[in-house]
Order: sequence, then structure tokens, then C-alpha cells
Amino acid sequence: MLENEIEEILIDQEKLQARIKALGAEITDYYDEDDEIVMVCILRGGFVFMADLARYVELPVVFDFMDVTSYEGATSTGNVRIIKDLEESIENKDVLIIEDIIDTGKTLKHVVSILETRKPNSIKVCTLLDKPERRTEKELESDWNGFEIPDEFVVGYGLDYNERYRNLSYICILKPEVYQD
Ligand code: IMP
Ligand code: MG
Repeated sequence: MLENEIEEILIDQEKLQARIKALGAEITDYYDEDDEIVMVCILRGGFVFMADLARYVELPVVFDFMDVTSYEGATSTGNVRIIKDLEESIENKDVLIIEDIIDTGKTLKHVVSILETRKPNSIKVCTLLDKPERRTEKELESDWNGFEIPDEFVVGYGLDYNERYRNLSYICILKPEVYQD
């Protein structure tokens, strides 16, 4: 039972949606009204956040998706691998990378450096969560971030543990026994 697996709800649905709406407004203000934004979702964790955020951005938006991996289970392997690349060229485009969480920063640093070689007009990064205590890539920050969280492994709203819990409408911490097997 799901209720028995959750230790604590860190950010509930109402707080999430209010903050995402505000982020959408900030992003809308930042760009010129006829800029076409290419929202690049980092799969799989970014898809829930992007779906909601995009509906609060009042600009022309197109979507593309990239799948990279740096984690197995709850611990970082330090390896960043491209599993699925973008479908479209981003040359001269305004790219907004959408990621669930910036933890060590390795994933985003890698993605940004790859996309920079493709000559976009601009690259910005929007993350839902930031764990600043864990940042090893000190020079990498999000341009927009939803919430700073402590160094805890969280799930929900796109974030998974072994592919589960992505469909929760809130961000939570699981009970330690969930990780035991
Ligand atoms: P980074 O490369 O260390 O910044 O890790 C970023 C990736 O690790 C994110 O895209 C997430 O998929 C995953 N990740 C980091 N922290 C968490 C967490 O607390 N819960 C679930 N996934 C996480
Ligand atoms: Mg991920």
C-alpha cells in the first residue's frame, strides 16, 4: 500500500502548482513575446513538470525530448549517458532545458555542453528541485528553480525510485524499508 511506503510529504500538490504557475509567469516575462521556445525535457523525470509548466508559459513553445541517465537506484554512478537524442535541430533556437532535479549537477552540465555545440541562440535551464548541498559542479546553476530541498532522496511528480512513484502529484520521502530489497 502506497500510504505505508511514504515517510513524509515534502511539497504538496497545492504548493507545487502555485510555484510552477509563478515560474511560468517569470519565464513568460523573461523572453520576448514572439520568441519561440524549444522546451527540451530531460526524460524521464522532467515530463510531469514540463507538462504543467508549459501550460503556464504564454509564448510560442515547441517540445523535444532527450533521455540521459546518471543514476542506478538511489546512488549516483557518476556516468552520464545519452539514451535518446533530440529529434530537431536547435540551431538559432531559444532552448529551455526542463529537468526534475539538480543534484550533483553532472547531468545538466553534460547536457548543456552537448547542446551548446549545436549553436542555439540561447540555452536556459529550469529545474523543479535543487539540492544545493550535493552540488559538485559549482559553476552550474539553474536559471529558474522551483524549490531548494535538503539532501534527501525524494520521489513523486516525475521523480522515481526504480521507475516507480513518478505519478504521485506531490514530492515525498519514502520509508527506509522501501529501499531494503
Ligand atoms: P545529477 O547529475 O547528480 O545532478 O543528478 C540528476 C538526476 O539524478 C536527476 O535527473 C534525477 O533523475 C536523479 N536524481 C537526483 N536526486 C534524486 C532524488 O532525490 N530522487 C530521484 N531522482 C534523483
Ligand atoms: Mg533523471
